[in-house]
Amino acid sequence: VDLQPLHTFHLPARAGHFRSICNSDDLRAYAVQVRRGEPVVLLGEGSNTVFLSDLPAHTVWQMRMRGRSYLGVRESCHHLRVMAGENWHELVEWTVAMGWPGLENLALIPGAVGASPVQNIGAYGLELKDRIAGVEVFDVQSETVNFMSAAECQFAYRDSLFKARGPQHWVITAVHFALPVVWNPVLNYGDLAARVASIGFLHPFNVMQAVIDIRTSKLPDPEVLGNSGSFFKNPIVDERCGAQLQLDHPGVPVYPVEHGQFKLAAGWLIDQCGLKGVKVRGVSVYRQQALILVNEGEGDGQALLQLISTVKQRVFEKFGVMLEPEPNLLGQPVPC
Ligand code: EPU
Repeated sequence: VDLQPLHTFHLPARAGHFRSICNSDDLRAYAVQVRRGEPVVLLGEGSNTVFLSDLPAHTVWQMRMRGRSYLGVRESCHHLRVMAGENWHELVEWTVAMGWPGLENLALIPGAVGASPVQNIGAYGLELKDRIAGVEVFDVQSETVNFMSAAECQFAYRDSLFKARGPQHWVITAVHFALPVVWNPVLNYGDLAARVASIGFLHPFNVMQAVIDIRTSKLPDPEVLGNSGSFFKNPIVDERCGAQLQLDHPGVPVYPVEHGQFKLAAGWLIDQCGLKGVKVRGVSVYRQQALILVNEGEGDGQALLQLISTVKQRVFEKFGVMLEPEPNLLGQPVPC
């Protein structure tokens, strides 16, 4: 099967087999294959997975379980249960239209609902962990579905327990959301508040529209220019390193996080190295946002690996900070 249309970076790659997960029979068939030790890949909409090469022995399984239901009000929150194969942005639009706001800052993030807890998606001052009640996971060993509370998921910046215990152990089948009945808008990120004011009065729909406007102006549409959103995580450094960087590089953006640590803006670090527009055989650093790598059409996995290593090396030489790719990179291209 051709994997190029199945991941948003759109590099050329093929897999041996492809199957969809639509119901519990499919989940069981997936579990049997994993327990036999056969190679599998579990995919949502492919916006956080990059296929670097052919995977001839693999079966690629795509999560397609659909359905959204309203569970009622509990503890001052609207509760929703949404199946993993639903599209993320359609969910955000639906909740805002139904009068259950709370997800509007996360509008237009590509991908499926089932992938959203894995990396605890976040944007414009809000993270998924602030709005989630828990997840339903299908256990590959026992073939049972269990509910895990948000606390059990161990959410952190672009991280959760599902990164350590992935689809070899669990398949996320549904996500439960808790959206406060009394809307508390999150407007402290950059110029979001000003953007909202320029659209109209303070309303969830206008916050969603402001986020959509910012994202469409800064981030490339993967259907036009293949990409996986932010390609590197914003690095988190300790207090000493953060202070030293501020001394050596006045103006470096640093954001205090927990435990006295600082989060740095990887996009700024890459930009400062003069890497915007740098290209390796069809794969380049996006000119409008240095944190995004794009496939200009003719890229392949080997070229992407080379570009990643150039970016990491240059940033390390200049700032002493090691960047880490955010998406899952699968396959091993043969060096040419
Ligand atoms: N910056 C530059 N040059 C650049 C890019 C950024 O100087 O080329 C500077 C900006 O001026 C700003 C800082 O870096 O001072 C941060 O930039 P921005 O606000 O654009 O956000 P980001 O850190 O690059 C993160 C998320 C995005 C999310 C935005 C908004 C990560 C890895 N990325 O990007 O998430 O949309 O904040 O909240 O945390 C994604 O994960 O795919 C994604 C798009």
